[in-house]
Amino acid sequence: MENLFDITGKVAIITGGAGVLGTSMAKYLAEQGVKVAILDRDEAKGKALAAEIKAAGNEAMFLYTDVMDRDVLEQNCKDILKAYGKIDILVNGAGGNMGGATIPPDKTIFDIALGDFRKVVDLNLFGTVIPTLVFAKAMVDNGGGAIVNMSSESALRPLTRVVGYGAAKAAVTNFTKYMAGELAIKFGNNFRVNAMAPGFFITEQNRTLMTNPDGSYSDRAKTILAHTPYNRFGEPEELLGSLHYLVSDASKFVSGTVLVIDGGFDAFSI
Ligand SMILES: NC(=O)c1ccc[n+]([C@@H]2O[C@H](COP(=O)([O-])OP(=O)(O)OC[C@H]3O[C@@H](n4cnc5c(N)ncnc54)[C@H](O)[C@@H]3O)[C@@H](O)[C@H]2O)c1
Repeated sequence: MENLFDITGKVAIITGGAGVLGTSMAKYLAEQGVKVAILDRDEAKGKALAAEIKAAGNEAMFLYTDVMDRDVLEQNCKDILKAYGKIDILVNGAGGNMGGATIPPDKTIFDIALGDFRKVVDLNLFGTVIPTLVFAKAMVDNGGGAIVNMSSESALRPLTRVVGYGAAKAAVTNFTKYMAGELAIKFGNNFRVNAMAPGFFITEQNRTLMTNPDGSYSDRAKTILAHTPYNRFGEPEELLGSLHYLVSDASKFVSGTVLVIDGGFDAFSI
């Protein structure tokens, strides 16, 4: 029987590709024979990552982007089509929480900085919507494609303090399901739109919430671990199997789903 997980020769875009989770995904997909376009606003990290992937004998390119800027994304799309000829996979990885949108322990919802709340929704929701509009159009022209959005545990179960981030990721989940229907109904069955909902991974965007200045776990991190049956945080590599599944023919009839990767957090109460 054919290998359902064979993704050799596919072309993938990863927005936020220079970030912690994006870097791990870019390296992995490239190792599987995928041509990877790393899109990020961090040029230094993105260029270094593309160079590292190429030095290992695999294919990658870096393009500066701003996922909020449609014009830049349209140019990215042209550049990718020129270099690789098509787009098969889009991972909407750019996103994250912001300090200003997080309610400090001694404050309440009535102190929320609305402007920061809005910025988090802008980045996570519109930073997924706009690249989808641009790159899914190229997929439609090519007759098929797989989109993977980054939702979050906070979309499923609101977490204390991060009200804006949770609302934004809940909207990403909803948009994922909307687009799964939209693309299939209007353009046929060769399109899949799914989301991954990682639980807790310590990365740059949440480090200040999870760790104290001396590097030890914060009280919040300890509470999370107490509610996680695996009693540990995830490692970026632990998302790769789910990613591979969602971008390969192994998930051919799977669209509009949210794959939770969280060491049991979501399923657990006491
Ligand atoms: N780390 C976690 O525990 C966790 C859990 C659930 C979901 N997620 C989601 O996974 C995704 C990746 O998270 P991460 O932990 O790797 O974060 P990260 O901060 O390491 O990476 C995010 C990347 O996005 C880029 N970026 C930010 N704004 C951009 C913009 N406007 N245009 C282009 N690039 C931009 C940043 O430069 C960075 O490289 C995010 O959507 C995040 O919300 C993370």
